[in-house]
Amino acid sequence: MSLKNKIKKKIKIYPFYKFNPYFTYFVSHPNKSFILHILKSFLCTMINFFNYYKKNKVTVFFCKNGFYKKIIKEKETPEILFNLLEKKLNSHQKIIHNHLENFTYSKKKVSDQDNQQFVYDIEKSFLIKIDDYVRSDKDFDLIIKNYFKSEYRIVNLRIWRYLPESKSLNNEKVGAHYDMFPHKTVKIMIYKGFFGKKNPSLEILNAEKNETLIFSVCGRNPIVIFDSNHLYHRANLPKKNRDTIEITIQPTFFDKKPLFGGFSAGYPLNPFKKNRNKIFL
Ligand SMILES: [Fe+2]
Repeated sequence: MSLKNKIKKKIKIYPFYKFNPYFTYFVSHPNKSFILHILKSFLCTMINFFNYYKKNKVTVFFCKNGFYKKIIKEKETPEILFNLLEKKLNSHQKIIHNHLENFTYSKKKVSDQDNQQFVYDIEKSFLIKIDDYVRSDKDFDLIIKNYFKSEYRIVNLRIWRYLPESKSLNNEKVGAHYDMFPHKTVKIMIYKGFFGKKNPSLEILNAEKNETLIFSVCGRNPIVIFDSNHLYHRANLPKKNRDTIEITIQPTFFDKKPLFGGFSAGYPLNPFKKNRNKIFL
């Protein structure tokens, strides 16, 4: 392949980026953190410029559509995390919004939603397990490497239970939206239970065509990877408790150690700086 073609491939605009306010918003609201993330993602790609990441049907599907869903085969790790959720919800938890320095977070989000119950602290051993889980899944591992064109790192892990009812009607469901994370962030969502067309876990919509449905995440214990910045999506109110795991992933140079920001945490503010643990007295 000629160098010109190789460069074209590395900076390609994916089909699922079309009709998306992400870039316009970014231009009208320049954000230092986002600029640093774009720079880091670019440098990560450059470091791996001559690396070839194997492609297959699944990676091609993701690069066209921005998502890929399957049913969990290796059940052990998600089960361990869902058991952790059960255990934490049945014990006293100290509310900590964000565990790390140099990390974005919101206090409001959590206190406003009485139909979601969260895990506020996740021990390191669970982070290592979920990191192994993602890396040992060849589909997900290849999708991320092909999309980032670099190595990757888990930057947050959130586990929560979504209840069917809410006392405050304002926040009962998560309406359709694009996430506002730095460019080249992907999320893996794992849902416990059975989901059908009438009670999907997550829906991906076409914002250009009156929010018509593109894809419903259905089936038993589905797992989906998607670019939540570039796909319009929503999660309707569940029919019964919906236990959820969310893994946030970003490009990295060499440091692949997984991070845990916290339940209402987002991503490293400055991706070039370390994220030390906050000290709580
Ligand atoms: Fe979202």
